[in-house]
Parts: sequence; C-alpha cells; structure tokens
Amino acid sequence: MPAPHVLCLLAALLAAADAQTTANPQSCKQCRDNSVSRCPAQAQSCPAGQSSCLSVWEANTLVKGSVENTGYSYSCVPSTIPSRNISLFFGNGVYVKIQSQNCSTNGCNTAFTPVWPIINSVYTGGRCPICFAPGRSNCSSKETLQCEGRASQCISISGQISEDDITIPFAAKGCATPHACELKKGEILDSGVFTYKITQTECYTPSGAQRILGPLGLGSLLPSLAGLLAVKFLS
Ligand SMILES: *[C@@H]1O[C@H](CO)[C@@H](O)[C@H](O)[C@H]1NC(C)=O
Ligand SMILES: *[C@@H]1O[C@H](CO)[C@@H](O)[C@H](O)[C@H]1NC(C)=O
Ligand SMILES: *[C@@H]1O[C@H](CO)[C@@H](O)[C@H](O)[C@H]1NC(C)=O
Repeated sequence: MPAPHVLCLLAALLAAADAQTTANPQSCKQCRDNSVSRCPAQAQSCPAGQSSCLSVWEANTLVKGSVENTGYSYSCVPSTIPSRNISLFFGNGVYVKIQSQNCSTNGCNTAFTPVWPIINSVYTGGRCPICFAPGRSNCSSKETLQCEGRASQCISISGQISEDDITIPFAAKGCATPHACELKKGEILDSGVFTYKITQTECYTPSGAQRILGPLGLGSLLPSLAGLLAVKFLS
C-alpha cells in the first residue's frame, strides 16, 4: 500500500475517534434573559461533559425601591447539578426566590414554566436576625423576622453578586428554605437576573420556637402542633 494512502487512512481514523470523544448527544435550550420570549426556541447541542439541562427562574427585590426583578436562565450542566427551591427572606420586603429544575432528555428544558413553591404563611414559630448589605461582606442588626412556612431556617449568607461585568460583595441574614442551606462555599448560581458566588452560608434552626408560639398558632395549624409535639418529646 503506497504511503499516502496509509496516511489518509490514519487521518480518517483519528478524525472519527476525535468526533466520538467530543460529540455530545445532549442538547438543551441555552439562553439567559429577563424575558423568556427572547430565548431561541430550539435546543442547541451541549459542550462535552454536560449531560443534563437546567432551567432556572429568579425573582428578587434586592434593588432597593424597585419592583420585583425576574429573570430566566437555561443551560447545559453536568448531571450533578440538583433541582432546588431556594427562598431567602431578608426582611423589610427584601427577598430572593430561585427555582431550578434539571432534566436529562434532549431539549427537555424548553418546555418548563416556573411553578413557584407556595411559601405558606403558617408561622413556624421561629424568628431570625435580618439584614441585607450590598457592597459589604458582613452585616448585623437587632431586627428579626418571623419565619413562615418552609422558609424556616435562619441563614447567614455572603458572597458576590454580579450583573454583566459589575460585581459587588454582599452579606445578608434572614429566613430561608432548606435548599438555600445546601448552597456551598465557592458555588456559582446563575439565576437569570444576577449571578451569585457564594463565599459562606451558615444555617440554624431558630431557637425559642416554643417560647414565641402564641395562641394564634395553636389548634388550627398542623406544623405548629408538630413543632409542639417535638418539643414535648425532646424535653
Ligand atoms: C436532578 O436533581 C436531583 C436532586 O434534586 C438529583 O437527584 C438528580 O440526580 C438530578 N438529575 C439530573 C438528570 O441531573
Ligand atoms: C419546587 O417547588 C415546586 C412547586 O411547589 C415543586 O413542584 C417542585 O417539585 C419543587 N422542587 C424541588 C426540587 O423540591
Ligand atoms: C465586617 O467587614 C468589615 C469590612 O467589610 C471588617 O472590617 C470587619 O472586621 C468585619 N466584621 C466581622 C465581624 O467579620
């Protein structure tokens, strides 16, 4: 066999092997905007190593004096990225709600619409310290917030918030859902309006739950009763 043919064959084999290792069969809707209608309807193929699709919706009132900001982010992600319902209440009407939903079939994130979890207003009996300090890496205040529904953990969180090419540090405290407490140091959360880089989170169950439970919480509200039962068994 003449030498040039061998080289051709080799090149063809290498190209085929290359295509096999880099082609990713997964495709997802990929875009980030504060208006869903501006996202392309078609799914596009994912980079290597990303075999799940993610949809993220965010609503927040972090910008003082503004109405609620909402945004969407659709992307390809590694299969380790979980679905989560993150709600954070920092008091005085300041909140962040982020819902993310994963899936693994082609284009599966084109069809999602957000279903905001109901943070019911059942008083869970605890209060958490609140503060929100954009531009700073820590904050504290004497004010507290009554935690409601599933947002029953006290959280202290800090990190950086970015929008386009502007990045500022932030620190906040308040009531949070359990998924918010799973945010890890170094984690980057791209959620449509802002991108959050987490430096630190610390959660705890508010103390004095039984102390603050008034007659209002008794009888009609199951979670409060469950709380009372737990207290009875623990004491
Ligand atoms: C989606 O997230 C859940 C956790 O919420 C995780 O158990 C599951 O493996 C993830 N699935 C995919 C396809 O990434
Ligand atoms: C988030 O909340 C929605 C609405 O209640 C629910 O359908 C969904 O399963 C929740 N997701 C997770 C990961 O808990
Ligand atoms: C809070 O942050 C400031 C600078 O942003 C720093 O000087 C101070 O030591 C910090 N306080 C605590 C308790 O970490």
